[in-house]
Amino acid sequence: MSGNRTFTMIKPEAVAKGYAGKILDHIITGGFKVIAMKFTHLTLQEAKDFYAIHKERPFYGELTEYMSESPIVVIALEKDNAVADFRTLVGATDPNEANEGTIRKRFAESKAKNAVHGSDSDENAAGEIKFHFGDNEIFA
Ligand code: CMP
Repeated sequence: MSGNRTFTMIKPEAVAKGYAGKILDHIITGGFKVIAMKFTHLTLQEAKDFYAIHKERPFYGELTEYMSESPIVVIALEKDNAVADFRTLVGATDPNEANEGTIRKRFAESKAKNAVHGSDSDENAAGEIKFHFGDNEIFA
């Protein structure tokens, strides 16, 4: 079942600009089922823990400060081939390179403020869902 799940966050700048509803509609229209969702505000430590995989990257400090600056929406999704299909729906990390009709082309402003996160593997999706949701918060 984990192969059919992915995880996304609607990031601070997209929530602050009022894009959460339009992004959620884009995701559901794209064929994904929402199985868990909440509005939350990460602490800096939570952002550091979530993105620990990137801790050696030069943008780690900027990324974790940004992700903890204001509320986000965290969402677990289900669909056949969820991880790959969601990354296609979202588009390239840099919105300037994202295809027309993708979430980042529509809503992202930069590589750092890129509107949404998408898991990059089944294994990371399972870990990211577990990071944010207890079993009793998932309605599959
Ligand atoms: P995300 O899918 O959340 O996974 C890691 C994030 O790091 C990525 O989206 C970007 O927001 C961010 N990121 C990647 N490359 C850069 C960069 N060069 N500068 C700033 N942030 C980056």
